[in-house]
Amino acid sequence: MKFLITAGPTREPLDPVRYLTNRSSGRMGYALAGAARHEGHEVLLISGPTTLDVPAGVDFIPVETAQQMYDAVQDMIKGVDVAILCAAVADYRPVVCAEQKIKKQADKLVLELERTPDILGSMRSVFGFEGKLIGFAAETNDVIAYGRDKLVRKKCDMIVANDVSKPGIGFDSRENEVVLIYPNHEVYLAQDTKEHIALQIIEHATIIPS
Ligand code: PMT
Repeated sequence: MKFLITAGPTREPLDPVRYLTNRSSGRMGYALAGAARHEGHEVLLISGPTTLDVPAGVDFIPVETAQQMYDAVQDMIKGVDVAILCAAVADYRPVVCAEQKIKKQADKLVLELERTPDILGSMRSVFGFEGKLIGFAAETNDVIAYGRDKLVRKKCDMIVANDVSKPGIGFDSRENEVVLIYPNHEVYLAQDTKEHIALQIIEHATIIPS
């Protein structure tokens, strides 16, 4: 099978030296890419900036911004059987990126932000993707309810939901604990290394019925 996996954070520039980003290390997405490759699949990893090594045998497209990730996914989605969108894409970006470094002036600086393109939400409606679609949900409360809402709104086959308020899992940690949300049931994966969690997610992803 051919997998497309997104990973890492995006960086949304404010000026030539500053950007808005988040705490994603890329570990969960890279572990998914490594696990899918380990299971013999063809894998394309599209990732925001991280310090990780790309797993052996995995094709790789580095990006920085949400718009670049959106464009790369749209360009590469043809022929993909399973898409897993694990990246922590910025939801907002500065409306303007200053050409010069912003100088210190007034005591307060107000930034105007606008929505970034919704990659997961575009997969079916804009990109016409008909393969298996797996999204992530990073929640701090009502994890199952919000995850289930994403499953339906974004027309996914499965949502991998994690409670990112729990210490020791989620953003920038070595372990995770997730709930796989399917249309009619849920599967809980107990806390474990991201590599072990990834192998279980890939196993589930390959047996989703058409
Ligand atoms: O990278 P690590 O340090 O290993 O951390 C792993 C993780 C916590 C980042 C990962 O497990 C995770 O939860 N990834 C999703 C993070 C996220 O941004 O979740 P969300 O609930 O805001 O987004 C929901 C889904 O929409 C995700 O599949 C996301 O990739 C996608 N999305 C979001 C915004 C956007 N503009 N386009 C998108 O496609």
